[in-house]
Amino acid sequence: NKEREKRKDEHVQLALLDDRLPPSHFDHLTFVHHSLPNIGWSDINLHVVLPDLDLKSPLYINAMTGGSEKTGKINAELAIIAKATGIAMGVGSQHAGLRNESLADTYRIVRRNNPEGTIFANVGADVLLDFALNAIEMLEANALQIHLNAPQELIMPEGERDFTGWLSQIEKIIKHVKIPVIVKEVGFGMSRNTLRLLKEIGVQYVDISGRGGTNFIGIENRRREKQEYDYLRGWGQTTPISLLEAQEYMNDMMIFASGGIRNPLDAVKCLSLGAKAIGLASPILRVLQNEGTERAIEELINWHEQMKTICTMLGARNMEELCAFPLVITGEVREWCEMRGIDIVAIANRGRL
Ligand code: FNR
Repeated sequence: NKEREKRKDEHVQLALLDDRLPPSHFDHLTFVHHSLPNIGWSDINLHVVLPDLDLKSPLYINAMTGGSEKTGKINAELAIIAKATGIAMGVGSQHAGLRNESLADTYRIVRRNNPEGTIFANVGADVLLDFALNAIEMLEANALQIHLNAPQELIMPEGERDFTGWLSQIEKIIKHVKIPVIVKEVGFGMSRNTLRLLKEIGVQYVDISGRGGTNFIGIENRRREKQEYDYLRGWGQTTPISLLEAQEYMNDMMIFASGGIRNPLDAVKCLSLGAKAIGLASPILRVLQNEGTERAIEELINWHEQMKTICTMLGARNMEELCAFPLVITGEVREWCEMRGIDIVAIANRGRL
């Protein structure tokens, strides 16, 4: 148990290092500027209504902390931030709190500090159904995130080595859980092949959590004595590529985007590619740890205002309209799409402009 608590604290420390590999694929996506937006700032509506999930904001704080004393304190602050800004939030994997009652409070504090908030529970895909139900109950959660993190486990010295049966376990959980189940990556992105398998078993909500921000191969590699896996840090699909891989599923599944979202423009680009919500993990952790709770609240309020500014500049009143604006895709992302047969010419020429 002490080992696990130490690991949770190390993850936070290492995530703050920010050793992202450039370039960001978000820089390969460019909106076409239009000189006649014909709307006003107050026309913008960023409210997101989804089946069984009502989000006042498309932004949410993604799964990170809990399971040790220090990360429990971070959870308490994140909950205050979520409450003050009205945004949804996830907690880190609850396995520690499920196995050890004395750690359950490091998660429960989130509900205590934000009684009316939208909160996501979090478990791994290998979890037994009863554990998943207990994780939901622990938080009176509004949705359950199931994380997929095979690369992280493999590089983690003490990690899991057998990933057999995840899909059937997810299927079982979905059948029994009455709140939305969000299947998420942890920063390696998804492919259309992964999405097809998830859709076939009835998954409705997915967070493609792509490469470009927090890098768990990098983090776990630093926890290894020899740090021999540095060369694998580029593994996985970036967030823009994952959203492009997901294009054919945008109408039948609720796709969330996270991973390496640096600023409000990156967030608006995700929405324009069809994402229904945008998860931020390390950017919020960093402001909270370096500058405190009040600054983190301010930062999120600024993100909202600036997202509205960008929407006004484009002339898009809401998410639906955003998805009808042309986005030009260049560089490595374009090459990827050409090889994978993803129609980016249609995206560059869509809509009424
Ligand atoms: C995470 N993430 C994560 N995800 C998850 O589903 N369960 C977890 O326990 C954790 N733990 C965790 C700890 C820390 C310190 C960080 C920074 C992140 C992954 C997170 O939810 C997200 O998918 C990635 O961090 C990518 O987003 P960012 O950080 O690039 O915005």
